Amino acid sequence: MQLHIGDITLPTNLLLAPVAGYFDLANRLVVRSVGGVPCECGHLGDVRYDVGDGTYGAVGLTCTELLCPQAILNEAHKTQWLAATAPEDRPVAMQLYGAEPGILAEAARWAEAQGAAIIDINMGCPVDKVTKKNGGSKLLCDPGFAVTICKTVVDAVKTPVTCKIRLGWDDDQIIADTLPSQLCDVGAKAITVHGRTTAMRFRPSVRLDGIAMTVEGVKRHHPDVPVIGNGDIKTPEDAKEMIDITGCDGVMVARGAMGQPWLFRDIAYHLKTGKTAPPLPRAERARLVLDHFEHLVKRRGERVAVNTIRFRTSKYSPHLQPWPGLRRSVQPMKTAAEFREYWQEGIERIEEEDATPALA
Ligand SMILES: Cc1cc2nc3c(=O)[nH]c(=O)nc-3n(C[C@H](O)[C@H](O)[C@H](O)COP(=O)(O)O)c2cc1C
Repeated sequence: MQLHIGDITLPTNLLLAPVAGYFDLANRLVVRSVGGVPCECGHLGDVRYDVGDGTYGAVGLTCTELLCPQAILNEAHKTQWLAATAPEDRPVAMQLYGAEPGILAEAARWAEAQGAAIIDINMGCPVDKVTKKNGGSKLLCDPGFAVTICKTVVDAVKTPVTCKIRLGWDDDQIIADTLPSQLCDVGAKAITVHGRTTAMRFRPSVRLDGIAMTVEGVKRHHPDVPVIGNGDIKTPEDAKEMIDITGCDGVMVARGAMGQPWLFRDIAYHLKTGKTAPPLPRAERARLVLDHFEHLVKRRGERVAVNTIRFRTSKYSPHLQPWPGLRRSVQPMKTAAEFREYWQEGIERIEEEDATPALA
């Protein structure tokens, strides 16, 4: 199902979450390749992974991790990579955090010039480094100021501005029923809500009733503004349950997509057909990991690519089993050639194994 955010039409209502240290450009390109849905720039996801009629889509929007506006404006090297995008990475949102309206506005103009389809303001991060400077979810404690920040950024750019919130700072300071609508009053074009308070961090389970409350609060005054639900989606059934129970317009997935970039394909299939998608063959999954590695080599160089893929293999590993000794073998690797050779052999072995029963 398409999703409209301001004047942007997303090919699907399934969004990849901003995740610091994880969903960088290389990883986003892999997530995008699983589908077959044309994105804004006309790029068609690799149809190898298409599940049927060429329309079962995968991810509708991805997002950079939270970016420090001051670092952007200082052109800090690391932030430049964190903000890196490419024509085939569209539409992409760029997420900013902070509590200085003027600097956020300037950084938003920069993000717009870099090709951000959407500028997202982080109002949900619980990490001390961010909240101690009044950014992230600390903004939820001062709704009036959160609205000022949103308005300043909205006024600075033509690009649609969205806000990603939590339900509130803690149970005594729930803002999910009030603040989102106020953000829309000053021009926010979508609200993403992680159904937990800051105090909850990441457990216990996401509160679907809190997401439903956010949807109701927004729709009462802004029926056309989409609300995206987020939290604990690990399977297609989780996504369907969130949509059915809360009435949210789309879902955003973070941890569930780590190690299984094909999850959006499976969710899209389930939402459309009510059935379970045929599993992506193991060899195809393994090929995606190699694609991920090659994106890293191309954009970050061999050393970073090898270090990164060693770490990421632990997320991919459970979805590639049986593959004896996978993590142990990859851990000591130092060169791209070593990884490529090992991985290619792994793919060939899987293909043989998976072909054997059919031949028997
Ligand atoms: C390691 C990690 C890094 C994250 N970084 C960001 C971030 O940069 N910006 C943001 O808005 N949320 C960030 N989040 C929160 C996720 O986007 C998401 O809201 C949260 O993980 C709940 O969704 P999930 O249950 O699908 O993981 C991060 C979460 C994790 C686990």
